[in-house]
Amino acid sequence: MKPAFVFGTRPEIIKLAPVVRAFIERGVEPLLIHTGQHYDYEMSRVFLEELELPPIDHHLEVGSGTQAEQTGKAMIKIERVLMEEKPDVTLVQGDTNTVLAGALASVKLKIPVAHVEAGLRSFDRTMPEEINRILADHASEVLFPPTEETRKNLEREGITENVYVVGNTIVDAVLQNAEVAEKKSSILERLGLEPKGYVLITAHRAENTDSRENLTRLVEMLEALQMRAVYPMHPRTRKRLEEFGLWERVSSIENLTVTKPLGYLDFLKLEKNAFAIMTDSGGIQEEAIILGVPCLTLRYNTERPETVEAGGNVLVGLEKERALGYLQRLLEDREFYRKMAEAPNPFGDGKAGERIAEILLELYKKGELKVRS
Ligand code: UD1
Ligand code: UDP
Repeated sequence: MKPAFVFGTRPEIIKLAPVVRAFIERGVEPLLIHTGQHYDYEMSRVFLEELELPPIDHHLEVGSGTQAEQTGKAMIKIERVLMEEKPDVTLVQGDTNTVLAGALASVKLKIPVAHVEAGLRSFDRTMPEEINRILADHASEVLFPPTEETRKNLEREGITENVYVVGNTIVDAVLQNAEVAEKKSSILERLGLEPKGYVLITAHRAENTDSRENLTRLVEMLEALQMRAVYPMHPRTRKRLEEFGLWERVSSIENLTVTKPLGYLDFLKLEKNAFAIMTDSGGIQEEAIILGVPCLTLRYNTERPETVEAGGNVLVGLEKERALGYLQRLLEDREFYRKMAEAPNPFGDGKAGERIAEILLELYKKGELKVRS
């Protein structure tokens, strides 16, 4: 069997690495196609190295652009590779433009698509990611929703065949790397941080960074933070801060350390030792509850409602008073802190990658891995 993996951004590398590993352990050599949606060393190569992935077979170097430019360019280049390589299945993960391009190019060549992390819905169609998720799910032959709740989202849209709830591969990634991170990373020493003595912040989502108004609200929140904070900054946010003339304000906040994006081991160590996490990232909402760190999500909706229902995550949007109010409560109320930190992980047992490989191999053996007519 020849599985092709199409990926191109930081979270896709992290979340697909356990699946790649599971195929290799079963004697199957995967074909790796990197679209180049992320291309800086610290947004891509660092993860390929740290997670010890085999060499990439095809680098497509798509780069940045408008939604259609990036998706279209990726589709054209992915199609060429798939026509030449003729894999038995194309695996995509998540909701990026790379995912949509990979899924569309593949299904139209009648190569079945397997969607890892299927069924997530924010029910906010103004997000590019929501459009990508919906379309990728409907182009897929085999779907791997991480939870029962996400399976139900698929069912509501009429997708019921070849749907397997397997957990989220982020648990595999965290379990495979947290201990190594604890031992190898010296990030706390490098940044002069005490365990549980800082808030970890990330924000990069288009709705928070692309408008001057919303980015200003984020900056105002950072200026009002009542404790030490660290913000490994996504290049998108850095560029927008400079463009809107807000960078000076951020870099002069005394108790805030802004760094470049970090490698996975450093970042995991920062997460695990954080007092709390404030983020608009999808993967980081998941990692926070897996690692037992209270999470305040800088969004008004989430496609990970399981984290909120479990009690480990609160949606605070860009509301300064609400966000800092929750942070204050965490600082003052030990019982409240304990409840958030001990919220149960809804994303499974860390064997999602193995399940995905087993299921696809089984379907392949039975001759059932094909695009249905
Ligand atoms: C993309 C995904 C988002 C995901 C995020 C993970 C889409 C629509 N969005 O958002 O869902 O959460 O990846 O991090 O696919 N840039 C660099 N260097 C890089 C990559 C990007 O400087 O290596 C800058 C460029 O100015 C680029 C901007 O960041 O225009 C945005 O990059 P892009 O890949 O379009 O979207 P992300 O915000 O990264
Ligand atoms: N991450 C990282 N270094 C950083 C920021 C994030 O390794 O500086 C990891 C993080 O641990 C998580 C993933 O990147 O696994 C999340 O990626 P991102 O927030 O870019 O995307 P999203 O999950 O929102 O799509």
